[in-house]
Amino acid sequence: MIDGNEMDGNKDYYEEGADSCGCGGGEEEDSCGCGSGGEDEGSSCGCGGGEGHGHGHGSKNPFDEQTPISGVKSIIAVASGKGGVGKSTFSVNLAITLANQGKKVGLLDADLYGPSVPTMMGINKRPDLTSNNKIVPLEKFGIKLMSLGFLIPEDAPAIWRGPVVMQVITQFLKDVEWGEIDFLVVDLPPGTGDIQLTLVQTVPINFAIVVSTPQDISLIDAKKALAMFDKVNVPVFGIVENMSYFICPHCDKRSDIFKHGGAKTAAEKLGVNFLGEIPIVEDICELSDKGEPIMTKDIHPEVKSVFNKISDSLILRSEQKVGA
Ligand SMILES: Nc1ncnc2c1ncn2[C@@H]1O[C@H](COP(=O)(O)OP(=O)(O)OP(=O)(O)O)[C@@H](O)[C@H]1O
Ligand SMILES: [Mg+2]
Repeated sequence: MIDGNEMDGNKDYYEEGADSCGCGGGEEEDSCGCGSGGEDEGSSCGCGGGEGHGHGHGSKNPFDEQTPISGVKSIIAVASGKGGVGKSTFSVNLAITLANQGKKVGLLDADLYGPSVPTMMGINKRPDLTSNNKIVPLEKFGIKLMSLGFLIPEDAPAIWRGPVVMQVITQFLKDVEWGEIDFLVVDLPPGTGDIQLTLVQTVPINFAIVVSTPQDISLIDAKKALAMFDKVNVPVFGIVENMSYFICPHCDKRSDIFKHGGAKTAAEKLGVNFLGEIPIVEDICELSDKGEPIMTKDIHPEVKSVFNKISDSLILRSEQKVGA
C-alpha cells in the first residue's frame, strides 16, 4: 500500500520490494513474469496463461484475479512495440478529446521507467491521500491523472524488477480514488513486459490501441504488441499511424519522412481496424513539452479530426457495449 512515507520517494519503493534492484540476484524464481509461481515457474512465454488463455501451462489462471475498477466504465490501453512512436502524445490528446466530448476521463501513466504525463499535461505535484489511504489523482483539463512522476523526483530512475513493478501498477489501478469515470486511458511503456502483463491480469481492458510509425522497424514491433493483446484476449480497437507524413508549413509540400501507409497495410493484413494517420506537426512536439497538448488548442484541424474520429467511435462502441 502506498502510504505517506512511501510517497516520500523512490527510495521507499526501492526498499519495499525484496531485491528490487534489478540486478538479477535474489530468490525469485518466477521468471515468466506472470506472478503466478507454482507450476509456472521457469516458463519463459510470459503470457501468464493458465487454462483458457492460450497455451495453459499451469493450474492457476492469473486472469482469474482480474477485477474491474469500481466506478470506471471502460479502460483503454495505449501500447506500442517500439519506444518513441508517440504513445504518450496520443494518450494525452485522446484523453483530452474524450473529455472535450463531455466524458469523464482518467489518464494513468503506466510508464514507470519514463513517465511523460507530468510534462505533457503541465502538472507535477504530490497527490493527497484520502482518510482511507487512497491516492487522490491530480486534475488538469478536467482529467484525473496519476503518474509515478508525481511521486518521485524528475531525475530519479525507477530501478525496479518485476515484482515491484507489478505491485506499483496494481496500486495505481486499485488504490487511486478514480471515482466515477467513463474512460480510463492507460499510457503504457513500449514493449510487452511486466507492466503490460500486470495491467491485463489485474483489470479487464475494453479497448487496446496500438500506435506505430510507418517504418517497418516500428511495424514489426507493433505486430508483437497486437499479438500480445490477442494472446491475452484483450480486444484490439485498432492501430493508429503516428508521424505519418509531414506538410511543410512554408511551401505546403508533403514529405513522407518515415515512409507512409505501413500501419494501414499491416492493419488490413492482420484484420484490425485502422484508426487514422496523425501527421508530424511541429506544434505537437512543442506544445507537449510546454504541457499544453494540441487538443487543448484550436489549431491543426487535420490532427484534431483524427482524434475526434477515434474518440467518437470509442464513445459509440462503449455505448453499444452498455446497451448490449
Ligand atoms: N505527430 C507528431 N508530430 C510531432 N512530434 C511528435 C508527434 N508525435 C509525437 N511527437 C514527439 O515525439 C516524441 C516522442 O513522443 P512520445 O513521448 O509520445 O512517444 P512514446 O511512444 O510515448 O515514447 P516512449 O516509448 O519513450 O514512452 C515527443 O517529443 C513528442 O512530442
Ligand atoms: Mg511514452
